[in-house]
Amino acid sequence: MKLRFSLRFLLLPLLLVLAGSGDRALGKLSPEQAAKLPPATTGKIDFSQDIKPIFEASCIKCHGRGRAKGDFRLDTRATLLKGGESGSAVAPGKSQESLLIEMVSGLDPDNVMPKKGKKLTAEQVGRLRAWIDQGLPWDAGITFAKLEPVNFKPRQPAIALKSNGGNPIDQILRAYFQQNKIAPAKPVEDRVFARRAYLDVIGARVPGRDRLAARRRGIGCLRRGHARRQKGPARAAPAGRQ
Ligand code: HEC
Repeated sequence: MKLRFSLRFLLLPLLLVLAGSGDRALGKLSPEQAAKLPPATTGKIDFSQDIKPIFEASCIKCHGRGRAKGDFRLDTRATLLKGGESGSAVAPGKSQESLLIEMVSGLDPDNVMPKKGKKLTAEQVGRLRAWIDQGLPWDAGITFAKLEPVNFKPRQPAIALKSNGGNPIDQILRAYFQQNKIAPAKPVEDRVFARRAYLDVIGARVPGRDRLAARRRGIGCLRRGHARRQKGPARAAPAGRQ
């Protein structure tokens, strides 16, 4: 009796270790399971034509463009090889040992990819198998990673500016003005320029000279303790005149 109990204590950890290693062997199918996989298609696989459309239609919304369900990204060949929570999703040259193929073929109904939506057809699985068997060719430049908004990147337009050609903005506009026969406006003093920029950019007027003067007077009055008496005229001063 005593011996049996201690054997049980020995067996339990052993079983746990075996169960653990079973998990790690995901993607290694038994010969019977492997026989059930759709056969690899024949002929050379072209990534852009044969594989990209499958990923785009069925996988990218969960494994690309910034998404990584199961910690698995299909962004590039490198992220595919790296795999997700269960390790590498593909074994180059060995489709029957690739977790990805096991999942898309639906051998285990509880573990099928795509997780939602239409299952892949036997022909599509066969194409993915052929692609893996042929060493996963992946056209350079194709990525399913999240795309950066192009307009956030600083651009440096190629414009030859002359050091003696005046303000760079005037230089850029000169060609346009010449082409459209527009006489460029004369240079203006800073205040006028600031006012125009205000009107153009925020549609509001810069405080005008009178108002600025009135404000200054107001502040002076406050300082001298005459705020109440002077408040009226200061307020009534014409607003926003240039
Ligand atoms: C609707 C979302 C969704 C779609 C679409 C989808 N997946 Fe998944 N995928 C998941 C989730 C969630 C997991 C995490 C495991 C789980 O919950 O089953 C996962 C896990 C995986 C894994 C295992 C990652 C790991 O290491 O554990 C692989 C490989 C995979 N998906 C491949 C694919 C492929 C290939 C496609 C397209 C044919 C696809 N998935 C489409 C949601 C999706």
